[in-house]
Amino acid sequence: QFENSYSEPQGNGGETHQTATQQTGVLTTQQGVPVADDQNTLRIGARGPALLEDFHFREKIFHFDHERIPERVVHARGYGANGFFELTKSLSKVTRADLFQREGDRTPAFVRFSTVAGSKGSPDLARDVRGFAVKLYTNEGNWDLVGNNIPVFFIQDAIKFPDIIHAVKPAPDRDFPQAQSAHDNFWDFISLTPESLHMIMWVMSDRALPRSFRFMEGFGVHTFRLINAKGESTFVKFHWKPKLGLQSVMWNEAVKINGADPDFHRRDLWDAIKGENFPEWELGVQLFDQKFADSFEFDVLDATKLIPEEQVPVEPVGRLVLDRTVDNFFAETEQVAFCTQNVVPGIDFSDDPLLQGRNFSYLDTQLKRLGGPNFTHIPVNAPRCPMTHFQQDGHMAMKNPKGRVNYEPNSWGAMGGPREAPDKGFPTFAAEVSETKVRLRPESFADHYSQARLFFLSQTPVEQKHIRDALVFELSKCERPDIRARVVSHLLNIDDSLAARVAEGLRLDLPEPAKAARPTLRLPASD
Ligand code: HEM
Repeated sequence: QFENSYSEPQGNGGETHQTATQQTGVLTTQQGVPVADDQNTLRIGARGPALLEDFHFREKIFHFDHERIPERVVHARGYGANGFFELTKSLSKVTRADLFQREGDRTPAFVRFSTVAGSKGSPDLARDVRGFAVKLYTNEGNWDLVGNNIPVFFIQDAIKFPDIIHAVKPAPDRDFPQAQSAHDNFWDFISLTPESLHMIMWVMSDRALPRSFRFMEGFGVHTFRLINAKGESTFVKFHWKPKLGLQSVMWNEAVKINGADPDFHRRDLWDAIKGENFPEWELGVQLFDQKFADSFEFDVLDATKLIPEEQVPVEPVGRLVLDRTVDNFFAETEQVAFCTQNVVPGIDFSDDPLLQGRNFSYLDTQLKRLGGPNFTHIPVNAPRCPMTHFQQDGHMAMKNPKGRVNYEPNSWGAMGGPREAPDKGFPTFAAEVSETKVRLRPESFADHYSQARLFFLSQTPVEQKHIRDALVFELSKCERPDIRARVVSHLLNIDDSLAARVAEGLRLDLPEPAKAARPTLRLPASD
């Protein structure tokens, strides 16, 4: 019989036998040999040279030497917890995804919150975007909704991702500054990439300084598709709304907290869950069809734009509750591997060029970060539903198929292992595509300022002041006056008074407005 289906608990719990803390018996080596003395190496005489034959010492040090794995190339600093998603409103009309069928059904979840730019040991309250990555262990496989706490992104095409990340991380010669935005390279890239200006408004706002993960929204950012049992497609944007509401800290608080307690956010999440104040978010969906997409002022495939909730309301459909801390930080939070391409039947991609690039990037980086192709065998990454396939071997192969058959098609009947299932299997939506092969940004992606302006004007006067102050502070750390002026030239296309006050704060003469594509939406002036 073909037997490689399995379902295991996460972390170090349950079936893992090799965790010293769960046993009180004899200390052993990795080979299971009892250890007599764990205090002294084997030597010739009490003061003599150490012996190569001391296998216990060598095994202990060799294992220690290999404890570190590469930190994530982005989102290195993060904190995870376990919980569940509960459906409160069935979406069966628009999707066949199993987790969205029956109201009251619960799906186990693992969530990792993160900052983007800092290293693994960086402080929690940096001015930065926060990752909000959710893995849902559904009955039909794992669905990862790998989002952020800001609904838009810096760039439109994934080919620019290495550039924005190089620019935001410490400069390669001096390895500083470590802060997200106080940075010549960062502002140089931004000022030459006007599509990032909408995101910049959010990053300079209070959203980039969340009071805690529990007071943060989350967004899937891209347009995805839902596919129903009849094969019909509905576009969707996903939103997580915190039950506690949205709260941030002030910049001067963030600076003090970072100094006094760089673990502020992770401590808050740990304490809340241990104290049974389980953090909770509502899942909301914005659903729309091709007709809306065609009539929308912007392109629904452009990740630098959102769809205003006034135009397409957010419908609540479920809740996410985090009710269990990890057993082991490394086993779960460090080894978890989220990937946008992990979707389940009933959920599909759109042609957003950022999403398409992400679908390639995550698996690729995880092959390196987690040491090969078998990281789905790590409990936090393994599906909780039966998993049967013919993939085998490679480093750390722990779930190779049993028996003789490891190929398909085969004629071994009942002994032949799993078969494809046309009715149950993942149905790729048959979108029609007929275009010329080109490298070209569509005209519908061209307006970089209107939504930046919309966001700025949606803020209260106090929040607008915070954005101005943040821009003055961050740009004052940028040494090159031409870069500062180029940023202000873009601000002039967003809001005159914002640009004027930032220029004044920087003691700059007002430059000419940037000549990149101008705003197309007519919005009221703020002053
Ligand atoms: C990691 C979100 C764009 C490549 C992450 C994580 C999140 C995230 C939340 C952390 C996952 C975790 O906690 O383990 C986003 C969002 C994006 C975006 C919302 C835009 C809407 C991109 C793009 C690329 C990319 C365009 C590349 C083309 C990566 C990589 C990692 C990562 C390589 C590290 C994954 C790992 O080592 O496990 N992203 N990202 N991201 N992202 Fe993105």
